[in-house]
Amino acid sequence: MTTTPIEAVRLPDPYPFYARLVAERPFAHDGALGAWVAADAAAVRSVLGSGALRVRPPAEPVPAGIAGTAAGEVFGDLVRMTDGEPQRRLKAVVAQALGRADTERAGRLAAAFTREALAGGGRIPYEELMFGVPARVVAALSGLTDGADAEAARAIGDFVQCIPASATPAQQQAAASAAARLRELLRPGIEAGGTGPGLLAELVRAADGASWTQRAPLVSNAVGFLSQTYDATAGLLGNTLVALARGAAAVPRDARAAGALVREVVRYDAPVQNTRRFAAEPYRYGDAKVEPGEQVLVVLAAANRDPAVNRDPQVLDPGRVNPAVFTFGAAAHRCPGENLAAALAAAVLMTLLAAGWAPADLPADPAYRPLANARIPLL
Ligand code: HEM
Repeated sequence: MTTTPIEAVRLPDPYPFYARLVAERPFAHDGALGAWVAADAAAVRSVLGSGALRVRPPAEPVPAGIAGTAAGEVFGDLVRMTDGEPQRRLKAVVAQALGRADTERAGRLAAAFTREALAGGGRIPYEELMFGVPARVVAALSGLTDGADAEAARAIGDFVQCIPASATPAQQQAAASAAARLRELLRPGIEAGGTGPGLLAELVRAADGASWTQRAPLVSNAVGFLSQTYDATAGLLGNTLVALARGAAAVPRDARAAGALVREVVRYDAPVQNTRRFAAEPYRYGDAKVEPGEQVLVVLAAANRDPAVNRDPQVLDPGRVNPAVFTFGAAAHRCPGENLAAALAAAVLMTLLAAGWAPADLPADPAYRPLANARIPLL
């Protein structure tokens, strides 16, 4: 195999490669990558469920280039980037708040922001619809309005650049300024306490209910709501539009059909194709032994198409009943934003269709952003 699972993320069609991984190397060491690769459903489940494997290298909990900056402080507080007992408690708080997010309001806001973006006429601003609209909605749900929603959407674009290991010093510096500004924007909503509507009030209410008293990690995880939304939801909308342009599914005629399509695209062409784990203790899978310090690349997008868990996995079928889906992770770090993400992507799609968008407006074979884990078409 000449492709690596990292290069696969941006291939026009990575799925034949993933199918070979699932069939021939479901859990194996990849010398070119310098990491173990978990590809089939059983291996992905086992890896994500293991306490020996952590979300960060134990020796570098925060990337060295942002340690000591506002970006580093936010990063170090994120439930996504930490393990252990405090993470478990804070994750329950975060998940409760997101579980109570008003997805109908999110859909209405997404539709309104989409209409606003389309109002100028001319070429469809796909980038704004994919990245800007979902981030603005989450910002608005967090109480940012009157331009602060758009400012937060721009700032989160700068913040997420510090997350890949390949971030440059300039990107890390921009991320630090963005994190400082995002904290300023979001802190008042946390300090206002748990009264009233909105995501931040839900977060404080959940924290109070769990006797979690520290406010700074709540502000950081509110920044996390925006960063977790940004690339992933852009990929979900983009991959849905590309699936329609390729004729892989019928154009949905109503909101229910749009929702079903988006949720099947989550499995079929995962916006987050892989995630990583770092061994803090020895981890065994079959005959393989992962030593402390070694990495595991978890290919969620390959496991989604494992024929052992999904029948006819290569077919995009919005009518699937109870598919096995790994795109939102599993176990301790499972994504708590799934319903919100699906509501956002479906609302933007329906609004685009209502405005006359047709799949033929898009190329069926776009290029993809050169990212290591998010699959986002360049539209
Ligand atoms: C299509 C969109 C999305 C996808 C594909 C996605 C995927 C994921 C995945 C794979 C993880 C786990 C990573 C790992 O275990 O290594 C995760 C974690 C997380 N996601 Fe999402 N996500 C999406 C949207 C969202 C949204 C909209 C929010 C909130 C506004 C959100 C909030 C989170 C949070 C807080 C975590 C950390 C959970 C933890 O580590 O315990 N996500 N997401």
